[in-house]
Formats: sequence, structure tokens, C-alpha cells
Amino acid sequence: MIRRFDDPECLSHAAADLFVQLARKAVYERGRFSVALSGGKTPLRTYQLLAQRPWRDQTPWTNIHFFWSDERCVAADDDRNNARMAKRALLNHVPVPSAHVHPIRCDADSKAGAAHYNALLRTHFSAKAPALDLVFLGLGRNGHTASLFPFSPVMEQKKRWAAEVYVIEQQMYRATLTPTLINAARVVAFLVSGSEKAQIVETVLEGETDTRRLPAQLIRPYNGQLIWMLDQTAASRLTAHTLQGEIHYEP
Ligand code: 6PG
Repeated sequence: MIRRFDDPECLSHAAADLFVQLARKAVYERGRFSVALSGGKTPLRTYQLLAQRPWRDQTPWTNIHFFWSDERCVAADDDRNNARMAKRALLNHVPVPSAHVHPIRCDADSKAGAAHYNALLRTHFSAKAPALDLVFLGLGRNGHTASLFPFSPVMEQKKRWAAEVYVIEQQMYRATLTPTLINAARVVAFLVSGSEKAQIVETVLEGETDTRRLPAQLIRPYNGQLIWMLDQTAASRLTAHTLQGEIHYEP
């Protein structure tokens, strides 16, 4: 499903609404809401909105478990750390029990950090079939998502739910959820805005399928819902055919 928004602010409001709606539904149905947050710049505004009224008052914070779709293997207080961004924008301002916040710690050793996260996820889902209720993802201009970068061997990981990866382009180790876990989610929502993303959005959604070159194309939930939340500029190269059935969000 594609949802198109007038601008990044509208997109962020809709993403915050989606988070609250899914959190309330999951807590009502299963007593808890397990969400994986994306890093990068795009989701920042959504996280900030969730810490404000009305969203903060509508959300069952004490029943939510926060995970990350990926992490840069840098110190927790490094500006590039995804968990640090989400804590400053949201988690430091809402009553989530600290035991429910599960950052990926991989700065000392990416392999050990990813292995620990893998074990943590298996404990959380008591090794049954995992099902995150919501995964937020971004889209890089080269078609990466989470830390699934083009031609990376991590995409071949079929059994593990989290894995370490060396990102050559950034000369940085990262840890990422694997497509196996992401595709088991109930809802996966890409948040993409900006004219600089229009070309890659068109390539991913309308181009040839080439998942090694375009890892975002690997994201196809087995039973869950895939939502592309795009602002007008990021969606500007999509054809009417692709957009058919899209929901144009009225603020
Ligand atoms: C990260 C993200 C990454 C991000 C995309 C888009 O850790 O950087 O997980 O996959 O979502 O690169 O980033 P922007 O939202 O900043 O464009």
C-alpha cells in the first residue's frame, strides 16, 4: 500500500497516528506492543510528535517494547547512534520502563553485539515465530534499508534475526535486523521524504526486481502489511498505475 502526503510534516503526523493506532490494538489484543524503530533523519519528527499531546496521552507506554531495525556500532553517546537519537526525541520524555528499551549494543564488538541481540529477540518472542507489531524503515538513496546495503552478505542470512555487517561505503560496522525477522512483522512502514529520494523510490517500486542491488525490495512481509509512506516529492516519479489505490492522506 502507498500513502502519499503533502509534506514531511503530514507524513510524520500520519506515522505517529499509525504508531498509536497499532500500539493500542496490540496491547488490547496481546497485552504488549513490540516495535522496531528506524534510524536516520526521516523518522526524527515522528518520534518528537509521539512525545507530545495528543499522541503521548493516547499511547500505552508501559506495555511497549522498543527495538531498533539497525544500529551503527558506535558508542551510545555518539551523535550517529540511532538509539541515542530516539531517546533524546522520544524515550527520555515518556514513561517506558527502562527494561522495555532494547538498544543494539555493538560498539565494542559488532559480532558479539548482533549475537546478543539475536538471543534477546528469541527470548522476547520465546523462540516462537517472531512477530514485531511494527517496523519503521527508511530508504537510502542507494536502495538500502536498515543496514541491508547493496551486495552485502548479510542479506543471505536466513536463520538469524539480527546480524553484524561491515558497510564498506561508510567504513563502519553495523548491526541490523535481517529480512527474515522484518518480513515476519505484522506491519512494516517505510517513511520516505524528499526529492532526493524520488529516483530510488521509482527504481525500487517500479524498476526491475534486483534484491542484491536494491535490498529494500527484499522487504515483503510474509503475512503482514507493507506500507510505503511517502511525501509528494519522494513519490513524484511514480506512475499513476503504481499509485492506484493509494490513500491520499487528508490532514
Ligand atoms: C540508518 C538507517 C538507514 C536509514 C536510511 C535513510 O541507520 O541510517 O537505518 O537505513 O533509514 O539511510 O536515512 P534518512 O532517513 O536519513 O534519509
